[in-house]
Amino acid sequence: MINHRPTVELRAVESSAVRESIDRAKHAEREGRWAEACAVYEQLVRDPDALSTTRLAALRWLGRAYLEQGNRGAALDVLEAAVTSASIVGSPRTVAQALNVVGIVYQVGGDLDQAATIYAAAREKAGLGGDGALIAMIDQNLGTVAMIRGDLRAALEAFRLSHLGYQTLGMRNHEAQILNNIALAYMELGELADAEIAYNEAARTFEEEGDHARQLDLAVNKVQLYIAGRRYDEALTQCQALLSVAKDEAAPWRGEVMRHIGVIARERGDLPQAAENLHKAEQHAIESGDLLLRADVAEQLAEVYWAQKRHRDMLQSLNEAHSLYSQMKAQHRVAQVEKRNGALESRFLEMAKHWGDSIESKDRYTQGHCERVAFFACVLADSSGFNSRSLFWFRIGALLHDIGKIIVPMEVLNKPGKLTEEEWAIMRRHPEAGLELVADIDFPGDIRAIIRNHHERWDGAGYPDGLKGEAIPFAARILCVADVYDALTTTRSYRPGLTHIRASEIMRASTGQFDPQLLETFLDWAETADIPGRPTPQRMAIFASGVGS
Ligand SMILES: [Fe+2]
Repeated sequence: MINHRPTVELRAVESSAVRESIDRAKHAEREGRWAEACAVYEQLVRDPDALSTTRLAALRWLGRAYLEQGNRGAALDVLEAAVTSASIVGSPRTVAQALNVVGIVYQVGGDLDQAATIYAAAREKAGLGGDGALIAMIDQNLGTVAMIRGDLRAALEAFRLSHLGYQTLGMRNHEAQILNNIALAYMELGELADAEIAYNEAARTFEEEGDHARQLDLAVNKVQLYIAGRRYDEALTQCQALLSVAKDEAAPWRGEVMRHIGVIARERGDLPQAAENLHKAEQHAIESGDLLLRADVAEQLAEVYWAQKRHRDMLQSLNEAHSLYSQMKAQHRVAQVEKRNGALESRFLEMAKHWGDSIESKDRYTQGHCERVAFFACVLADSSGFNSRSLFWFRIGALLHDIGKIIVPMEVLNKPGKLTEEEWAIMRRHPEAGLELVADIDFPGDIRAIIRNHHERWDGAGYPDGLKGEAIPFAARILCVADVYDALTTTRSYRPGLTHIRASEIMRASTGQFDPQLLETFLDWAETADIPGRPTPQRMAIFASGVGS
């Protein structure tokens, strides 16, 4: 979305020295030298030669500059002072301007409720002050907040109001910026025809205004429209045209265009070409420090690897995207990151489940095993006090716990009778094989322990490390209980599924296998829980052999 920065006009006559300072600071801002801009604004705030309106405006600009430097606390302090001073000495318009920037600080910090409340207050003051441009600007910000929240109809309504305001004032360039936002909202709604109308109108306006830079930004956004409408030829033509413009310059959107080319290749089934272009986009994103693009490219690469069945690389890319989103959150660039990260986590879980399933599908008796184990294990982890963040990673680990079974031949996995010594030796290698698969992925939390140690026994007689008691990682002890319970209560190649009562008896009798406390907590829960697909007493098995695999 085209970034919107509030513009403020000076209406009083200022001394030339003060005007020069303002120009210098604004120039520094445009070039991203925020520390320099801050220094000038700090001087202006205290400059006795400056008009009071200028000193007030400088407080607001200073707040904005602190925000750009990532210093939200300082920004809020300065802006609160600006609001207070404006309330005492200024007009409603001045108060509205200061409140608007306070709203921006909260919005950037991800506190959308507070931002919306403050924007509404700012809008009211701007109305009292009769400042149409400021009202349009605030409507634009209200629309952006609604869009981040996912309330796209409200966003469209606010953007339309803003557009009308700018139109009435003849502010053509602002009109076009808002049309770009309207197009993005229609895109999110999947209403591509309306998005295209808005883009085309914005493009015409930018052209008339001679705003070449924004015309190009818009053209980059429009590629997404073509991709969404599966108009790949047009999308590619547009990308090539953009790249030829950016040939000799470091256009900020170059990486984004490479990303688009990668996505087009992927959608057309040319996976090697897709990977190559996405890697180029990744390189641009790294060079320009664009974390959002890097995260996005990593997500797209995960999809390519998924299609290529390169599951390990897929996990690595998903993990990278996730860690980038976490970094962005830490930098308080939260709002849209929160939403995108939520979508990424869902996709992450989905891909982990699919991979788990694809390994299981070699074993026709264990369909859905990974997902059920993950469900049981998460219930137990939750009752053991894992927070939601740890639970996410715990769930990923539980879904992936048996990925090492990829090394076990299908005839061994599906063998109805007893395994030979040699076959058992292969089967027992799966925890280590699983860990080797994820060895160079920088996973957080307990994933490695779950994969490697889910066949350890409380008495130390398990494998692969023969760990004993509390030396076994807690997450692996949980997984062991969940894994065995599911193995017992579902039909296997060598026996039908058991009821809860029979499974409990077997697990309790398997002295030394489980953490006793975790086992009791789990069986207590499972006794009364409504577990889909649980065997009924009519299907009660009369024999059982083998506990887990
Ligand atoms: Fe296993």
